[in-house]
Amino acid sequence: MGHTDSLEALSVNVAKRTFDAVIVGAGGAGLRAALQLSEAGLKTAVLTKVFPTRSHTVAAQGGVAASLGNSTEDHWHWHMYDTVKGSDWLGDQDSIEFMVRKANEVVIELEHYGMPFDRTDAGKIYQRPFGGHSMNYGKAPVMRSCAAADRTGHAMLHALYQRNVRAHTQFFVEWMALDLIRDAAGNVLGVTALELETGEVSIFHAKATVFATGGAGRIFYSSTNAFTNTGDGLGMAARAGIPLEDMEFWQFHPTGVAGAGVLITEGVRGEGGILRNSGGERFMERYAPNLKDLASRDVVSRSMVTEINEGRGCGPHKDHLLLDITHLSPEVIMKRLPGIREISIRFAGVDPIKAPIPVVPTAHYQMGGIPTNFHGQVIVPKDGNLRTPVPGFYAAGECGCASVHGANRLGTNSLLDLLVFGKSAGESVVADFKSGDLSLKPLPADAAEFSLARLARLESQQEGYAVADTRLAMQRVMQKHAGVFRFNDLLKEGVAAILKVAEAAKSTIINDKSRVWNTARQDALELDNQIEVAKATMISAEARKESRGAHVRDDAPDTPEHPNGRDDQNWLKHTLWYSADNHLEYKPVQLKPMSDDVEPIALAKRTY
Ligand code: FUM
Repeated sequence: MGHTDSLEALSVNVAKRTFDAVIVGAGGAGLRAALQLSEAGLKTAVLTKVFPTRSHTVAAQGGVAASLGNSTEDHWHWHMYDTVKGSDWLGDQDSIEFMVRKANEVVIELEHYGMPFDRTDAGKIYQRPFGGHSMNYGKAPVMRSCAAADRTGHAMLHALYQRNVRAHTQFFVEWMALDLIRDAAGNVLGVTALELETGEVSIFHAKATVFATGGAGRIFYSSTNAFTNTGDGLGMAARAGIPLEDMEFWQFHPTGVAGAGVLITEGVRGEGGILRNSGGERFMERYAPNLKDLASRDVVSRSMVTEINEGRGCGPHKDHLLLDITHLSPEVIMKRLPGIREISIRFAGVDPIKAPIPVVPTAHYQMGGIPTNFHGQVIVPKDGNLRTPVPGFYAAGECGCASVHGANRLGTNSLLDLLVFGKSAGESVVADFKSGDLSLKPLPADAAEFSLARLARLESQQEGYAVADTRLAMQRVMQKHAGVFRFNDLLKEGVAAILKVAEAAKSTIINDKSRVWNTARQDALELDNQIEVAKATMISAEARKESRGAHVRDDAPDTPEHPNGRDDQNWLKHTLWYSADNHLEYKPVQLKPMSDDVEPIALAKRTY
């Protein structure tokens, strides 16, 4: 049955469309979840602001982690160790065990869907080394990243999209979800959404709602993220009373193109690329004697910023470093890294075959998000149970926080996360559907009122602040006050500054009120979501009085009592931020793995 057959008019004259499941976002997580549902025969809608194969997963370059062991010996428990250590022990070990043990299965599935992975001479999936991934518990780099040249995300999206077309998933392209619909009991009943071409608002009423809206890296001034990455799922969840978890932890990728922010994959260092300072020195040997340029990302980014701060940066302003692959053969570069050569020529004006690429750490990935368990169910504290599922609500990919990345994510674990948890969210919906736990609950009469009021405010607001100016103010505050290194006084000032920007964002004005091609309206609505993410980040960061993973503060240094500045006695816990009153709660980290016969990875000082 086509979606228009189920159109109904509500009293507020908002069209209603009814599905078994509505998925918001058509990147890797959304497509993987949708596939699970459509193949099980559920009537599934996917809403997406951009055509699915243009979702931000397309920008993932270096690969997806799986301990296939095609080129070097490997084991899922080594992958688990690396991920827990990379997370600085903030990752939940049950979810991490679940993810790494599922890795081979989800990658082989993709291979069977026709994903064009590169091949070894023996015809197996090609794997390359990546930062923080090691064999034998940190002894040496391992080849774990399954790659399609440096366009792995692009290849993945095409394979998943085609498979969804075959499974009759219904796509709503250039639709923006506005708000989550919940009833008085807290059940999630779907979303309101805006069709960007016409400006019309609809209700998507569903038994299950899956958020797969990706990250929000555009809250920062300099970001590797697409302009569409505005944290829509997080904003909608926060406004609907769902807390956001561990939002203080943001990853700065070591190698964004200086001045442009575009990603240069860590796979470049995996293929042998070397970071150099103004003296031509391979400085990572001083910071991470064992894994060097392939230490985990937080470590490499901090080392780079230290080099710059101590005057060893490159260029006339000494504000970047150099990524050197001139020692690799042009054949290897053309075969394994063709995309980054093109990016480097276009965005830095440098052919990396002949000269090193200017790079600088750039905001890349949000480790926190909407709290979930490893089944993809959204979980909140309720009646004394810290992990109570919200009926009808699931999340996966970067917008979700199954807590596998903790305080710092390892490269290539993001594509793995979206495959594993996209699939497990889909499996949970199917299981809940079959068991009768999911039903179509009645919509409240005012289901669309909140969204309509937001739109009406934009229509009527005559005086206030331009959206672009307000967004820029937010990005500048985030970049200055919540960057690679964090400072007590800057964090405190940052909280006041972001709350001031949030006030201004309540009075944004749009100049173009035309109903067709609602780009001005879309910008304003996206800003509402970005502001939720920015507040969550700054307030959570100011409150966490320790250094851990990507959150390193000047007043929590590395001491024998607090290795790496970590305070496990007081801070081995997850942050939960609530939008309504900006209050914070905490819940313990899950240190026990999923299986009784798997040993937990014991707390230790992090060195590479
Ligand atoms: O460097 C990269 O290719 C990025 C990978 C990732 O963020 O996982």
